[in-house]
Parts: sequence; C-alpha cells; structure tokens
Amino acid sequence: MTVHIGVIGTGMIGQDHIRRITDVVTGAEVVAVTDVDAERAKEAADRVGTRALPTGQDIIADPLVDAVVVTSWGPTHAEYVLASIEAGKYVFCEKPLATTAEDGLRILEAEQAFGKRLVQVGFMRRYDAGYRSMKRVIDSGEIGAPLLLHCVHRNATVPETYHSDMAVQDTAVHEIDIVRWLLDDEIVATQVIRPRKTSKRFEHLQDPQLMLFETASGVRIDLEVFVNCQYGYDIQCETVGETGTVRLPDPADVWVRRAARHGTTVLQDWRPRFAAAFDLEFVEWVASIRNGQLTGPSSWDGYAVSVISDATVESLHSGRVVSVQLKDRPAFYGG
Ligand SMILES: NC(=O)c1ccc[n+]([C@@H]2O[C@H](COP(=O)([O-])OP(=O)(O)OC[C@H]3O[C@@H](n4cnc5c(N)ncnc54)[C@H](O)[C@@H]3O)[C@@H](O)[C@H]2O)c1
Repeated sequence: MTVHIGVIGTGMIGQDHIRRITDVVTGAEVVAVTDVDAERAKEAADRVGTRALPTGQDIIADPLVDAVVVTSWGPTHAEYVLASIEAGKYVFCEKPLATTAEDGLRILEAEQAFGKRLVQVGFMRRYDAGYRSMKRVIDSGEIGAPLLLHCVHRNATVPETYHSDMAVQDTAVHEIDIVRWLLDDEIVATQVIRPRKTSKRFEHLQDPQLMLFETASGVRIDLEVFVNCQYGYDIQCETVGETGTVRLPDPADVWVRRAARHGTTVLQDWRPRFAAAFDLEFVEWVASIRNGQLTGPSSWDGYAVSVISDATVESLHSGRVVSVQLKDRPAFYGG
C-alpha cells in the first residue's frame, strides 16, 4: 500500500519534506500540495509532478490524500491538525503542535474522541543515531539512575528578527522534548538565568541564556542556548548517572594535521546535523501508517512541550523558578 500524502506549506521545511518523501521514503507519494503563496505551491508541485490545490482545507478534504503534512507557519498548525482529525486522516505536524495550551488540549480531546492516534509531531531528534544510542545506554541501566544532564545548543548566528523568547520557543524546544524522551520523565519546574550578553549581536537579544529544568523524579538539567556563538552549529548532551556517564558523539569528519596543529570541522547549520534524523523520521512515520499504529512523538508530547516552553518564557521575563502545570496524562497516551 502506498501512502498518499498532501503537504500544507511549501516553504523551507515543506519543500525539504516533499523532496524527502519523493526521493528517500519508499511506499509514499506526494499527491497534492498547497501554500498561501500559490506561486510557491505551484513551483513545488511542478518539481515533483504533482497537483497544487488552493487551500489547506482542500488538501485535507481531498479523497486522494491519506495523510497530511503540516509545514505552514506555527499559528496555523492547530487548525489544520484539528481538521485532519475530523476527517479521520493521519497528520504529521512540524513543531509547534499549537501556539496555545488551549489549542493543544483541543487536539488531545479530538484525538481521544476519535479513538486512535492520528497525530505525530516533528521532534526529529528522537530519530538521531546519537540520541538513540544514549537512550539505549540509559534504559539498559549500565550507568545507573540518571542524576544530571548537561546540554548545549549553539548556532553560529541568527537574523535580527530573532528575539529573546525564540531562544525558548524555536531553539530550546528540541532539548525540552529530547530530555523528556531520554529520561521517560516529565519536566515539573523551569528557570532561565541571563548571563552577560554577547557584544557580537543585537542589543534587543538576551544571548546566551542558561535554562535549568527539574523533572518529577528530581533529575536536574542545564541547557546553554547560545545562538550567536560565531563558530558554528554545535549540539552537545551528556547524561550523568550514578555509576557512569554517556555523551553524544560529535558529527564524524576527518582530522587534519598540519602546521603544528590538528583539527576537524564544525558544522555551520542544523540541516546537515539532523538530515539523517529527518529522513528516518519520515521512513518510520510512513511505516507506522502502513502498520496502522503511530509510534513517533504524540500530540501529548506536543502539548507538554508547549506548556513547558510557555513556563520557560515566563521565567525568562521574571527570573523566577516557574512550576509547570500540565493536565494529567491520559491513559490514551500511556499515562
Ligand atoms: N523540526 C525542525 O527542526 C524544524 C525546522 C524548520 C522549521 N520547522 C517548523 O516548520 C514550520 C515551517 O517552517 P519553515 O522554516 O519552512 O517556514 P517558511 O516560512 O519557510 O515556510 C512556511 C510556508 O507556509 C506557508 N503558509 C503560511 N500560512 C499558511 C497557511 N495558512 N496555509 C498554507 N500555507 C501557509 C508560507 O507561505 C510559507 O511558504 C514552522 O512551524 C517551523 O517551526 C521545524
């Protein structure tokens, strides 16, 4: 069975997913695309020989579409996810699932009322080989119970439109999801500390930021977000357990020795760092649709991450520790 996919939003990541579904994933085909910029949708459709439809609602209602990919702007996601659930169609939604907790709850309720998981959220780090190995080590018990996590998220530079809240909403959300998944534990409190600002970028931007999280079982996580570090894209994560530690490998590249120095490259962009993870994310999403049972990040994960993200933004502004107020996790989502 081929999974016929409709894509809403043919911007940067939408085009990349269309290419991925067409060139990388077997058993899936893009049968329609749309964008509020009709010209952009037509160009994206023509590149893979498919149809451009006028609106997202047309994509969801299209009888040829089995599953929907939502890659439009964040504030439009919840509406398309809810409409997909109403149509009984699988929907892959790039982060964020919703931009308000209320919309996140509406999605949880609609999916439970439908009676089967239909929604997957695009937290692609769960498909990264390094994080998967780290989770295997933690789950095996070989480093004992986890006590601490040290995380780093650095970008070379960001544009002037990037503002301080985005360090949480656009950047740290990936760590917020991955630490919950690695530890199989929920974040219950969050705090942002504002170090001295780098002079290399904009006056309006608090950069770097130090974020501190606490989980229900008492694990403490520190996350440095530094989005104008100048030297490259650098993701680090180390878990400290009772009897050992486990850390992510650096991306593999050759080591060069010359002129009395030796060294390797640092990636400049998130795309090559997580390209293989994005590919596997779609391979596994399509396989799970064909098996009739989704296995990836759920709408509960999307809801929880947005509530934790809101609490973290609150702390960025107040400087205080903010407790995270999540609804009880429904049994439907393994609660
Ligand atoms: N998982 C990740 O690491 C990752 C990476 C990049 C982007 N994203 C997420 O993907 C989404 C898209 O990001 P992007 O960088 O591709 O943005 P983009 O601006 O390049 O593309 C978004 C596209 O959506 C279209 N659009 C906006 N509203 C629409 C609507 N109502 N209906 C149809 N089309 C609409 C826009 O015209 C644009 O072409 C964002 O939510 C972003 O956070 C996730």
